[in-house]
Amino acid sequence: MNNSKIGVLGAGTMGEGIAQVAAQVGHRVVLVDVNEAALIKAKSNFQSIFTRLVEKGMMTNEKLVEVSNKISYSSSIDSFSNCRVVIEAIVENIDAKHNVFRDIEKVVSEECILASNTSSLSIASIGSVLRFSDRIIGIHFFNPAPLMPLVEIIPSIQTSEFTLNFSKSLIDSWGKTSVVVKDTPGFIVNRVARPFYGEALRIYEEGIADFATIDWAMTEIGGFKMGPFTLMDYIGNDVNYAVTESVFSSFYFDPRFKPSFTQKRHSEAGYLGRKSKRGYYDYSEGASLPLPNKDIVLGKQIFDRIIAMLINEAYDALFMNIATREAIDLAMVKGVNYPKGLFDWADEIGLDVILLKLENLFHEYGEDRYRPNPLLRRKVKNLAN
Ligand SMILES: NC(=O)c1ccc[n+]([C@@H]2O[C@H](COP(=O)([O-])OP(=O)(O)OC[C@H]3O[C@@H](n4cnc5c(N)ncnc54)[C@H](O)[C@@H]3O)[C@@H](O)[C@H]2O)c1
Repeated sequence: MNNSKIGVLGAGTMGEGIAQVAAQVGHRVVLVDVNEAALIKAKSNFQSIFTRLVEKGMMTNEKLVEVSNKISYSSSIDSFSNCRVVIEAIVENIDAKHNVFRDIEKVVSEECILASNTSSLSIASIGSVLRFSDRIIGIHFFNPAPLMPLVEIIPSIQTSEFTLNFSKSLIDSWGKTSVVVKDTPGFIVNRVARPFYGEALRIYEEGIADFATIDWAMTEIGGFKMGPFTLMDYIGNDVNYAVTESVFSSFYFDPRFKPSFTQKRHSEAGYLGRKSKRGYYDYSEGASLPLPNKDIVLGKQIFDRIIAMLINEAYDALFMNIATREAIDLAMVKGVNYPKGLFDWADEIGLDVILLKLENLFHEYGEDRYRPNPLLRRKVKNLAN
C-alpha cells in the first residue's frame, strides 16, 4: 500500500503536513498548488523540519535524503495522473472545491480515490460534481497533521464500501488513529467540542467569572491541558468564531451552537489571540497574565456546567448515530487532547448528576440550549430501574 503515489492539492498549512506524513511512511507524494511561492515555502519548510529531526537524532541523514526525494512539486493538476489517492486541502470554499474536483477527475484513473480535508463542508456536495462519486470521501486531519494522531474518515451517501475501507486502512497504515463519522456538520470533534468554548463564553458574559478564573477551573479542577480562553487565543478567535458560526448555521440555527458576541467583538477588534499578540489575554512583551479567583466552590460550579454541556453534546452525537461511543471518546482524546473520553467521564461523575445539572439549567434559563438529550434521559431511567 505504501508504494502507491499520493497526490496532495494545496501546499498550505494542512497540505504541507499531510504530504510530510505520507512521504515519511514511504509514499511517493506530489504536492500541487497554483501558487508557486507556496510550493517553494513548503519545500524549504520540509528541509528545516527534516534537518531538525536529524539534529535531534530522530531521523538519519540517509532517511532525510530518501524522504525529501519522495516529494515532488507541481503547479499543475495533470501531475496527479498516476496517483492512487488525491487529498485536497485548498481554501474552504465549496465553489473552489467543486472546480478542482471536476478538474482532478479528468486526469486521474477511474480507481483513484478522491478525498477532501474539509473541516466544515459537505462531502456529499463536494462529490456531487464527480462522474464516479462513489470514490469521494472526507479525510480530515488535525493541525499540525504530522503531530496530531486523530484523522476523521467521512464517507458520504455516495461513498462505496471499497473507498471507505481502503481509505481507513491507508490512514491506519500511516500510524494515525482513524474514526469513521457521518457526513454531518463539524463531524465529531468540531461539533462535540463547541460547548467547551460556547459555555465558557456564556459564563463570562453572565458575569459569573472572568477569563482567567474560567481557565483555572477547567485546567485545575477539570484537568484539561488548556482552559477555553487560552485555547481560543491559541486557535485564533477569527478561526474559532468562523467554525462556531458555520456549525450554528449548518444545524439550522440550533441554539445549542449559538455564537457569542464576546468572541465576535474580539475577532472584529483584531484581538485574534497569540498570533496578534492580543486576544482574551495580552501576549505583548512584558505583559503579565491576570490572576484567577481560586474560589473552589465557584471553580466547581464552572467546571460542572461546562462538562455537563460537553457530555450532553457527546450524547447527542451518539443519539443521532454520527459515530460510535468508542469513536467519539477516542476522537476527543486524540483530536483535542481531552483528559478522558466524555462517555467514560460521564459514567465516572454519574449520569444522574449530569442530567440533574442540565435539567436545572434548562429550568433556570428556559432555553432550548440546555435541553437534556433523550438518550441521556433514557440511560438514567434504565439505570434507576
Ligand atoms: N488550518 C487548520 O487548522 C485546518 C485543520 C483541518 C482542516 N483544515 C481544512 O484544510 C483545508 C486547507 O486549509 P489550510 O489551513 O491548509 O489552508 P491554507 O490557506 O494554509 O492553504 C491553502 C492552499 O491552497 C492553495 N490553493 C487555493 N486554491 C487552490 C487551487 N484552486 N488549486 C491549487 N491550490 C490552491 C493556496 O495557494 C494555499 O497554498 C481547508 O479545507 C480547511 O478547512 C484546516
